[in-house]
Amino acid sequence: MQKLGFRVLGVSSLCFSPLYVSSALLALTACGGSKDSAPPPATPAAEAAPGAASAGAESAAGKTIEVTFQPKSGSTLSGKATLSETPDGVKVALALEGLPPGEHGAHVHEKGDCSSPDGASAGGHFNPAGNPHALPTGTPRHLGDLGNIAISPDGKGTLDIVATGANLKDGDPNSFLGRAIIVHEKQDDGGQPTGNAGGRIGCAEIK
Ligand code: CU
Ligand code: ZN
Repeated sequence: MQKLGFRVLGVSSLCFSPLYVSSALLALTACGGSKDSAPPPATPAAEAAPGAASAGAESAAGKTIEVTFQPKSGSTLSGKATLSETPDGVKVALALEGLPPGEHGAHVHEKGDCSSPDGASAGGHFNPAGNPHALPTGTPRHLGDLGNIAISPDGKGTLDIVATGANLKDGDPNSFLGRAIIVHEKQDDGGQPTGNAGGRIGCAEIK
């Protein structure tokens, strides 16, 4: 089976050698190969699934976007956040490095604007329901309250949290799209009004 697959792919490459993988898939058909007998292009074939089926799978699984952090307030922070829609809300996965070890507050702030050197352009905590600030163990709280990310002595850390009730829909009042994730210099202690987490050392626009 596998040998046949490689042979068929080889033939198609000869027929359409300058073309890329998706074209090679078409070439398989053009050259008389069966797509069932071609294991190597399995992944590209899945990605190149017909539009309707692909869109359906995407909405069922929810949208996922990856955003990049900019260092702020003279920090050396770098890293990314991956946001994915789940049935309960938006899962936010932070992977950061270049931070001082310890706990650092992390929140979704209301404006998707990281342009200012101190991150102040991102505005306050994203709080569409008008709740008090709290750590993720507390309810109610700001929709953007993500708690703290724990940074190891090597300056690296990760945080995985689901912001219950949030989404990534265009124009929805609870959407994280068009907001920004801010990482702070200090720990969020859950105090009012915003957790006493100090300055802003990283900012990522969610778009
Ligand atoms: Cu914040
Ligand atoms: Zn808050």
